[in-house]
Amino acid sequence: MANYAIILAAGKGTRMKSDLPKVLHKVAGITMLEHVKRAVDAMEPAKTVTIVGHKAELVQSVLEGQSDFALQSEQLGTGHAVMMAEAALAGLEGQTLVIAGDTPLITGESLKNLINFHVSHKNVATILTAQADNPFGYGRIIRNADGEVIKIVEQKDANDFEKQVKEINTGTYLFDNKRLFEALKDINTDNAQGEYYLTDVISIFRQAGEKVGAYILRDFDESLGVNDRIALATAESVMRKRINAYHMLNGVTFTNPEATYIDVDVEIGAEALIEANVVLKGKTSIGERTVVTNGSRLRDAQIAADVVITNSDIEESIVENGVTVGPYAHIRPGSVLKKDVHVGNFVEVKGSTLGENTKAGHLTYIGNATVGSNVNFGAGTITVNYDGQNKYPTIVGNNVFIGSNSTIIAPVEVGDNALLAAGSVTTKNVPADAVAIGRCRQENKEGYAKRLPHHPDKK
Ligand code: UD1
Ligand code: CA
Repeated sequence: MANYAIILAAGKGTRMKSDLPKVLHKVAGITMLEHVKRAVDAMEPAKTVTIVGHKAELVQSVLEGQSDFALQSEQLGTGHAVMMAEAALAGLEGQTLVIAGDTPLITGESLKNLINFHVSHKNVATILTAQADNPFGYGRIIRNADGEVIKIVEQKDANDFEKQVKEINTGTYLFDNKRLFEALKDINTDNAQGEYYLTDVISIFRQAGEKVGAYILRDFDESLGVNDRIALATAESVMRKRINAYHMLNGVTFTNPEATYIDVDVEIGAEALIEANVVLKGKTSIGERTVVTNGSRLRDAQIAADVVITNSDIEESIVENGVTVGPYAHIRPGSVLKKDVHVGNFVEVKGSTLGENTKAGHLTYIGNATVGSNVNFGAGTITVNYDGQNKYPTIVGNNVFIGSNSTIIAPVEVGDNALLAAGSVTTKNVPADAVAIGRCRQENKEGYAKRLPHHPDKK
């Protein structure tokens, strides 16, 4: 039987105190909505409808092309939100998952288990539930003396007895598709919040003599519904543990996984070493045996094998095998460091390619440059690439030696094997095999220092 999915994402998320719709807050680098969508994809739905409302266009842009959308222009409750999917789904044979967009920790594995349970029990509705130590705020699962689920009661509607119940509604359910939309016609707003509760369909099914059930999650963490920023931080922390455990099981060493922050799409090769206080963001990938020391921050960086990154920042750049970076280097977007490059202390590289085995050890800025192999940058080299309006390229051939404190005023081309004398200001192209000297000649005035106030003879 076909599976369908409805993701509820129309709410504002008042308790977040944010301009951003709640489901767009991120956990480990991607929005909560994307986490939910990825879990939903594991059940291979024939159609997914995301209910949008508050800042609909913004929410929609995150799942554009991956989901159908239905607009809930006024947020009158979760039951009302599901009704918005009626046009897209109502007549279809099959079973429909309904899931809240604010439960980023639910796994595809659990959703598949939910489906199997639902199908094998021949239920009309199955609630995904969990046992909470502190159930406050969640809907409670009310069972009869035989242990059968009879209804869900919201926190605000619960009596003292019901508030004691620790089994909670995770906000995820599986329904017979047709029966879901029929039952929704019978819900009302007769409750403490004056909303159309989706949860009311459970008692409607029961009263019609239909079979409802609950599949209990073993891991309470998965059920976390993020309503405020405290829960958001909890979600982040649980996700971090999961991500780090995944990498450790793949052969990556962490010196302190509690303080290592890795986004969900980051890839790391076996035998890599990731020290404490490292942040790996976005689509970063790290090759085998690469070492990333404490304090390094990488975003959308492709790092090959056997690289050593010491307390440095790398963004949107490609780093090939055997490169060493840092300490305190900054590799900015659009850079390529080819095999065995060394970029050392206080070096900034932006939008530049450094050829194999090229070295820039100290205090250097390389911007908009294309540099060949085996080039040596002396300390304090600056490519002057910007005139306040435009950026200009510097092109350096192979085996070039750039003396310390060089200023290269782009656009400039330096040919193979050339040497720029230390302290030079290079404004013109330098042919291959040439030495370029662009500095004032030194003049020594014999004995003159004796006339100046610093001299011991003057004191
Ligand atoms: C809901 C459940 C509660 C459950 C909890 C789990 C109801 C009535 N209650 O409560 O039993 O324990 O989730 O986290 O369903 N939304 C819309 N349109 C609306 C209202 C909400 O799209 O009109 C969306 C929200 O964006 C959110 C989701 O539905 O993604 C859940 O809404 P929320 O207000 O957080 O429900 P809870 O009060 O947490
Ligand atoms: Ca919620």
